[in-house]
Amino acid sequence: NAAEKGGYEHFMLKEIYEQPKTINDTISPRIKDNDIVIEELNMSDEEIQEITKIHIVACGSAYHTGVTAKYVIEGLARIPVEVDVASEFRYRDPILQKGNMVIVISQSGETADTLAALRESKEKGFKVLGIVNVVGSSIAREADSVMYTWAGPEIAVATTKAYSAQLTALYMLAMKFAKVRGTIDQEKFQSMLTDLRCLPDQIELLLGQKEKIQHFANRYVGARDIFFIGRGIDYAISLEGSLKLKEISYIHSEAYAAGELKHGTISLIEDGTLVVALATQPALFQKTISNMVEVKARGAFVMAVTIEGNKAIEKAADYVVYIPETNPYFTNSLAIIPLQLFAYYVAVGRGCDVDKPRNLAKSVTVE
Ligand code: G6P
Repeated sequence: NAAEKGGYEHFMLKEIYEQPKTINDTISPRIKDNDIVIEELNMSDEEIQEITKIHIVACGSAYHTGVTAKYVIEGLARIPVEVDVASEFRYRDPILQKGNMVIVISQSGETADTLAALRESKEKGFKVLGIVNVVGSSIAREADSVMYTWAGPEIAVATTKAYSAQLTALYMLAMKFAKVRGTIDQEKFQSMLTDLRCLPDQIELLLGQKEKIQHFANRYVGARDIFFIGRGIDYAISLEGSLKLKEISYIHSEAYAAGELKHGTISLIEDGTLVVALATQPALFQKTISNMVEVKARGAFVMAVTIEGNKAIEKAADYVVYIPETNPYFTNSLAIIPLQLFAYYVAVGRGCDVDKPRNLAKSVTVE
């Protein structure tokens, strides 16, 4: 009812607006004296130093936070990371070797495939860290250690705040591992910590652009296909932006690694097709801009999401959403906000049941 939605039209919008608080709640208890302390981890520094590989297993949006984490952990802590969707991992007789660590990520803690992947890993004799939102859920109970995301109850089927909390927990894990393994210097670590603490206020700023995004979204309520492209972490953001849109608006949408477009998807670009280009990684700006030029030449309308100050993008984009500057590893947390709002307003504009999209369940407890 209306009271539960706190004055918002839908739970999804309410939860989108709760994200600054959620992130703060996930970060604050784990920052002590300018250091990251993850007591729940239950790992000694030696154990962290001896990690030979990390396997991340999850479903849906949680899987997308895992894809992001692969870039962040590999980049910062130089530990190889494999990411699998749980339904694949559990049936491929995964190779787990000495020093491997398994991380399962789940909002509900009840997703059947993720739980089965956890059990499979434990049977093979490996310790599992759960990144879980629901306290006392099956995954929380069965994992060897649990890092809670503290997002509070999430009602809308399409996840927003739990997704953001998962990302934050994973950033902290990556930074912690990097520090213990000596792959990050103190100055960089401190500046990342500052950037991490700024995320809630920066998200607040982006939420302030709601009307602008709504206005833009209204132009696309009749779209047939929408594509999301990006490289590196921007590819991971694309995956989630595309999933959000398709699950609640029923518009066909695909996410593509921008450099892979030319191997197939570019044939689907027609006059006026919306392509959402993510360009938040300075090292990849030029590469993504050339992909934007390629789709524009085929008639696409390009909406770009980039970092404040990257004016060069305006040559190749028809519409630009700027996100505040942050560490490149953290941009998913900011860039996803306009994409969540875009998906939300397109779905509202189409008259969809935003909080309960057809055929989907909040928690998938059957295989
Ligand atoms: C369902 C939900 C998604 C969620 C996925 C994984 O498909 O609709 O929003 O990302 O399950 O759920 P979990 O609870 O394991 O994070």
